[in-house]
Amino acid sequence: MTPIGIHDLELATTHHVLSLTTLAEANGTDPDKYRLGIGQDEMSMPAPDEDIVTMGAAAALPLLERNGIEGIRTLLVATESGLDQSKAAGVWIHQLLGLPAGVRTVELKQACYSATAALQAAVGILSRSPQEKVLVIAADVARYELDSPGEPTQGAGAVAMLVSANPALVEIEPVSGVHTADVDDFWRPNDSSTAVVDGALSIRAYLDALTGAWDDLAAQGGPDLGSIERIVYHQPFTKMAKKAQQRLARHAGGEIAADGLETGSVYNRRLGNTYAASLYASLAALLDHEQDLAGKRVGLFSYGSGSVSEFLTGIVAPGYADSARARRVLEVLDARVPLEVAEYRELHATELPSGVDVQTPRVTKAPFRFTGIQGRARQYERTSG
Ligand code: COA
Repeated sequence: MTPIGIHDLELATTHHVLSLTTLAEANGTDPDKYRLGIGQDEMSMPAPDEDIVTMGAAAALPLLERNGIEGIRTLLVATESGLDQSKAAGVWIHQLLGLPAGVRTVELKQACYSATAALQAAVGILSRSPQEKVLVIAADVARYELDSPGEPTQGAGAVAMLVSANPALVEIEPVSGVHTADVDDFWRPNDSSTAVVDGALSIRAYLDALTGAWDDLAAQGGPDLGSIERIVYHQPFTKMAKKAQQRLARHAGGEIAADGLETGSVYNRRLGNTYAASLYASLAALLDHEQDLAGKRVGLFSYGSGSVSEFLTGIVAPGYADSARARRVLEVLDARVPLEVAEYRELHATELPSGVDVQTPRVTKAPFRFTGIQGRARQYERTSG
């Protein structure tokens, strides 16, 4: 069988960042609650001229510059920060990236899980047409109400992945475990720009989904825990990965090396929650911070509230390590402009007026920007290159 999986990947985030120590000082919380208790240091925050389209296109651009566009016939955008009830966000991204018309473009939604559905759809397409490539983009803006328990677990970011046959990073193995359960742990009603969440329930639902997906993986003939070198998890906050690993070790009755928890959280600690992109930001961090994974099996646990989850595994390709990629991500994270709490609160409260034309202020230094709304249609431009 031709190996299929992630050939290349890149991460993008926002113009702004809020330090959680700054937030803690402002709201009278012990900064250790955020740093150690939930395991977060910073959260990315979009400027008014940034959104999932600008971040997603920014993540994908270097992939296309490195690999070319030849063979890309499918663009899948996974997000729960939908910008339109009808049009797929990928159509704007397709235009910004200058992709040819001969591409099928669609948006996938199921809370933070949808990037995994996109990845599996890509694997399916390529199983039939291995000469093609699929561009998968996961992009989200995690928003909770000001002064709510979810506030320090906000964030924003995008991960773009080029999926192909004979991948240079991770081959996705054919067997996976899946799990669906109807639960009201987290959702975002159509009339709300922030999520509704029952934090304690969402943690329980996540852990139940983990054991459910693991049991399904075992029932499908998946690998033993002992043959999995590292596991990366969806990380609404990085402490969740620790909780998950403890639960899985207990449930499956085995040891899991703790190293991956540290290395797989390096980017998520600084991005905050990136919903659909979170698991793949964790995979990027793992690949960028461990030098000895070639030929080894990694597990990926994907959870989307509501809930749908999947436990999949992959084999890391020889020659996957690339110090330049890690450097690029650090540059992107370090380039963010810190916000004061008052500025953050003002930005958080700003919503686009409905039904009128709008021009956004020019803030972002990213290669693409959201310029505003004309005749109720969102407008974008390429700013560089
Ligand atoms: N120093 C160190 N740790 C501290 C601390 C301090 N001063 N104060 C609290 N903590 C620890 C707590 O012991 C707890 O750790 P534990 O979970 O290992 O027991 C952790 O910090 C969080 O404290 P808690 O009181 O539970 O926080 P909270 O009521 O503010 O809620 C979330 C935390 C994550 C539930 C909340 O941020 C949330 O709802 N987030 C959005 C939903 C979400 O991300 N769900 C995840 C599944 S998708």
